[in-house]
Amino acid sequence: MVDLNDVRALRALDGGHMLRLIGELPDQLRAGWRNAAAVNLPAAYGRARRILILGMGGSAIGGDLLRGLVAARCPVPIMVHRDYSLPAWVADSASETLVIASSHSGNTEETLTACHEAREKGAHLIALTTGGELAARARAWGIPLVLYRYASPPRAALGYSFVSLLALLVRLGFLPDLQPELEEAASLLEAMRPTLAEERPLSENPAKELALSLVGRVPVIFGAGALATVARRWKCQFNENSKTWAMWEELPEADHNTVVGTNFPAEGIGRLTALFLADPQEDARTALRRRATADLLSEAGIACRTLTARGEGLLARMFSLIFLGDYVSCYLALAQGADPTPIPPIDRLKALLAAAR
Ligand code: PA5
Repeated sequence: MVDLNDVRALRALDGGHMLRLIGELPDQLRAGWRNAAAVNLPAAYGRARRILILGMGGSAIGGDLLRGLVAARCPVPIMVHRDYSLPAWVADSASETLVIASSHSGNTEETLTACHEAREKGAHLIALTTGGELAARARAWGIPLVLYRYASPPRAALGYSFVSLLALLVRLGFLPDLQPELEEAASLLEAMRPTLAEERPLSENPAKELALSLVGRVPVIFGAGALATVARRWKCQFNENSKTWAMWEELPEADHNTVVGTNFPAEGIGRLTALFLADPQEDARTALRRRATADLLSEAGIACRTLTARGEGLLARMFSLIFLGDYVSCYLALAQGADPTPIPPIDRLKALLAAAR
């Protein structure tokens, strides 16, 4: 196993500089906001009655986080669509539907297919990408294009993909000005960064400590409300960065099924670590439920840990946990001798699908 205190070894293994990219998240949050401010948006888009975000993987999670963040503040429903064909309701209400197609590469076939269908059905359309086919189509169609430049895998460009969505909705009048909340989040992450960075030794670095405790384990991340979307981000980061099987669960729903599945297979259950994401501002019922669920799982022999968000605004609280989880997933990869950046199975699947076109 790689020593997480050996900074030279960590840097040598981290060929794609994932640790550096993670550390840039606060800067990305600010840059993403500025970037989206420059795009022209038709006034009619602000009259949409529903918002559908198209995307896959690292380009879809920003939509989930947005949905979680603004659930209590946005007057229209926000849905995330991860598939080829659009749901039938889009055809019936296209002129009242804002569709935002998000693809970091601009070449993801599910997103392109759904985007094409949205265009044919007459929905209000915006493209969000670094380039590729999506940018080319946006230019050809003359639809708003939010183009950002950031050399990284999609999952490491979350600052751009998420904040662009947020800024678009603010600019279209669906949300109040959330820039002060965004600034709070960026400043908080800057303050957290020295404690999580690779130079900080294991004994003083909560991300390294948690990563080490997860070696050989299967993490299951639990979150309620907006933190359920953060739990999903943690799961995806464990998969892609750490090359580790992981699951995410949503409270209160998990209390109605998951808590019963703790007997079999005994060897498998013994390998689980439940990570509970806690919000200091959660309501009393949610807090009670979270603690009771952890007690139940502990009694069933499942290791449980609680990670508590920091910050005042919901955006800062969500991103404090996202930042921690990103570092944990990276250290977990490095501890096990894996470079966090490459994702050969995704590349193989995309090549196979492209060849069969
Ligand atoms: O993290 C990844 O690389 C993937 O989950 C991609 O985001 C996913 O395959 C979609 O690709 P793109 O983000 O380029 O649309």
